[in-house]
Amino acid sequence: MKKHILVIPGDGIGPEVTTWGKAVLEQIGTEYGHKFTFDEALMGHVAIEATGNPLPDETLTKAKACDAILFGAVGHAKYDNDPSAKVRPEQGLLKIRKELGLYANLRPIMLFDELLDASSLKPEVLRGTDILFFRELTGDVYFGEKKRSDDRNTASDLMIYHRYEVERIATKAFEAARSRNKRLCSVDKANVLEASRLWREVVQELAQQYPDVETEHMFIDNAAMQLVKNPKKFDVVLTANLFGDILTDEASQIAGSMGMLASASIGDGTGFFEPIHGSAHDIAGQNKANPLASILSVALMLEISFGLKEEAQRITSAIDQTLKDGYRTGDIADIHTEKSKILGTDAMGQKVLEYLSKSA
Ligand code: NAD
Ligand code: IPM
Ligand code: MN
Repeated sequence: MKKHILVIPGDGIGPEVTTWGKAVLEQIGTEYGHKFTFDEALMGHVAIEATGNPLPDETLTKAKACDAILFGAVGHAKYDNDPSAKVRPEQGLLKIRKELGLYANLRPIMLFDELLDASSLKPEVLRGTDILFFRELTGDVYFGEKKRSDDRNTASDLMIYHRYEVERIATKAFEAARSRNKRLCSVDKANVLEASRLWREVVQELAQQYPDVETEHMFIDNAAMQLVKNPKKFDVVLTANLFGDILTDEASQIAGSMGMLASASIGDGTGFFEPIHGSAHDIAGQNKANPLASILSVALMLEISFGLKEEAQRITSAIDQTLKDGYRTGDIADIHTEKSKILGTDAMGQKVLEYLSKSA
């Protein structure tokens, strides 16, 4: 198989973790005889520094022409602490999502048994959890009109959804539920928000076409609580852009760390694969970041964009083995005992490559 992959490392720990996602792709390519070719492009703070634009035209052109994209993260403390900055790294990410029509962001909450003790939640609450989030990615307050009054004292972001936007992601979520445990929980705030009432109406209508899927509607505040009370109750969770952003950071604590959650953004064309975490200024440049979310994003790319299930499974198994043998980055070190062998980003990435080779 021949595939051309665009790597967009971005800022902070983005380049540190993406290096290992790419290395795993290269090793899989060599072993299975796939011809993966790579190109690189700028986005975020690094792109602003180089061109003044968080998403340079050249990056967008390359993104539209490749077969899949591996992304790291964008963001810089400089903008986080300057609310008046007009040009911001995150604008690059939002624009590429919109331009590529990446309306469905799949965030699997995959729990490696070896990490049950790495979570601050009780192992008996976590064991057996397997959730697939469908987060809508190109609508909501993220993309509605933004306003600031002339005196600068009033600000608003419009929460807006169109029927077709809810229909297309809900359809994907129902189809996924059908192939999994046939339970779908749609999360909204329909007791207060009009946009959520449209959301619920559309999901209720669509549910008629999926009588084999048990559909439930839950308010976001309750869902945030149920997620840590009893995560096993969820199978597919369907939700809007902002709610999905927040709920999945919360859900990362089920898997043990932000450094464990991968995601796939899909829609009209090229798939876009990225960890759910950000540029993590607090650990950037220190060889501390967990590269597993980036490596797991590569597994999602192989399975979803290229249909290479066996190769994807090999990656997951290599990670499983690495964890079974006690290797950890700091974020997933066992909080109860001293038994973990704590590695830096590079050593952890290298370990996964070793276990991949061993299983060949
Ligand atoms: P963050 O996800 O960067 O970090 C949150 C916490 O999780 C930090 O303590 C960090 O050290 C830890 N963490 C994250 N990834 C980790 C990893 N791989 N290994 C170990 N620990 C990890 O969120 P934040 O601190 O709120 O945001 C930092 C910057 O990143 C901001 O500028 C924000 O806008 C940006 N951001 C970007 C993305 C993205 O590009 N997709 C996502 C979220 C945040
Ligand atoms: C994410 C991030 C982004 C989002 C930001 C950086 C725009 O938090 O990918 O989860 O909110 O979607
Ligand atoms: Mn987020």
